[in-house]
Amino acid sequence: MKKHTILLHPLGKELVVNDKTPLIDVLHEYGVEFPCGGRGTCGKCQVRLMDGEIEVNDDHKRKLERFHLPPDWRLACMSNCTGSITLRVDQYEHIILADETNFEFSPESGSGIAVDLGTTTLVTQLVDLTTGKILAVETMLNPQVKFGADLISRIQAGLDGHSKEMMILIRKSIGGMIRLMLKNCRQLPVKVVLVGNTVMQRIFSGSDLTPLSCYPFQVEDLGLSEFTPDELGWDFLSGTKIQFYPSIGSFVGSDILAGIAATGLHRKEQYTALIDLGTNGEIVVGNRDKIICTSTAAGPAFEGSTLSMGMRAVTGAISSIQLVHNKMNPSVIGNTAPKGICGSALIDAIAILLQQDLIGIFGEINSGEQSISIAGPIRLTQKDVYEFLLAKAAIAAGITILSRNLGIEPSDIHEIYIAGGFGNYIRIENLLATGMVETTEDKIHKMGNTALIGAKMFLFGKGELAKEILDKTSHINLEGFPDFQDIYISKMILG
Ligand code: FES
Repeated sequence: MKKHTILLHPLGKELVVNDKTPLIDVLHEYGVEFPCGGRGTCGKCQVRLMDGEIEVNDDHKRKLERFHLPPDWRLACMSNCTGSITLRVDQYEHIILADETNFEFSPESGSGIAVDLGTTTLVTQLVDLTTGKILAVETMLNPQVKFGADLISRIQAGLDGHSKEMMILIRKSIGGMIRLMLKNCRQLPVKVVLVGNTVMQRIFSGSDLTPLSCYPFQVEDLGLSEFTPDELGWDFLSGTKIQFYPSIGSFVGSDILAGIAATGLHRKEQYTALIDLGTNGEIVVGNRDKIICTSTAAGPAFEGSTLSMGMRAVTGAISSIQLVHNKMNPSVIGNTAPKGICGSALIDAIAILLQQDLIGIFGEINSGEQSISIAGPIRLTQKDVYEFLLAKAAIAAGITILSRNLGIEPSDIHEIYIAGGFGNYIRIENLLATGMVETTEDKIHKMGNTALIGAKMFLFGKGELAKEILDKTSHINLEGFPDFQDIYISKMILG
């Protein structure tokens, strides 16, 4: 078969591919995003053709016009490689949060592997079970991003018949990461523990995604899944125990179970909360007696997918904003010109706009215009501000409802842990200024990748820790709470 070369600028990477290879199949590994899963509706997979030819059909031409792209740009999801080409890709720098946090453990013999299977990123760590030392780390983007950035697109891709392909992709990628970590290791790990949200768990396990796609979103088999190396195609491991830890509810996965373990809230006397502002916007409130958790619809706004100029934390994204001499001073990932805004900077922007009286407490742009400038060409539209308000209200209402279920008020929560890669870049004072979390700065702790920390803790023992948490944890649907609408609406103000 004819082969072609794809040169990726400025990465300096050279790929050799078969004739007619769809660019979506190869570029996702290099950070090009496919938020709409290649449906041609988001325009965010754009790449610049610096050399060579990529044929454009009528549909592609219409899309390029719709997104106002110059003649030398292409939508990667609509392009095939039919000759050697040079492409400029701008989304090459991703922030992937690994972890070096110390945690308590009882020494065991051998080594184990913790895997955080995220919707966007994958992190694996090889852990010495005698010392707790991290022996190797691997990170990469989840190759399923070519099927879309968020969980809804992945579920849809599954319903469209791509479940098996997604399963093979993820098993192969994680297997590859493990193999790399073991290359200088003489001993095979005794166990592998994977954690992830329920959609990731089901795709990895090859389970049907249909129950997660429609009301009442009831999934029966969310328990611990065990695999042999052979089943996963990881034949380089032999005799290793591989476990995907159980989910707590339909949209609260083992990443949150691990997060609870990492914060230790299940053993605290005082009420503690864990908030993960990524993907599912999961919230947990509880103490050593009882824990309640839920998921909210907050994730998409913070991950940028519902904002007009929103993007994830990749090259070109404004990641934070400070007010300097009364002007917004943005920090852009990769020190390039800003191309969009990601979740942490969205919170900064809203807090600053509110403080400067440029937006009102109901999110209205006070000038009466339909958008407001953030930095250079980056603007927030009125709709974007309302999207934020909806997400903020969902989190604030979630905290209130979980607290009341426990017979307390949010002000009784002693400590709040913010989890996840995105949470790590948030400015706490701005989070408080928006009113999303009603507490004081000293009670909030950013905890980084709690899923990975918890997965490492699960490597020790025989599952007692997860059982201890699951025994006292229940999951609720916010919408089922009688006062949900009233509480939600009451939280739809800023400040
Ligand atoms: S237009 Fe959305 S992935 Fe290409």
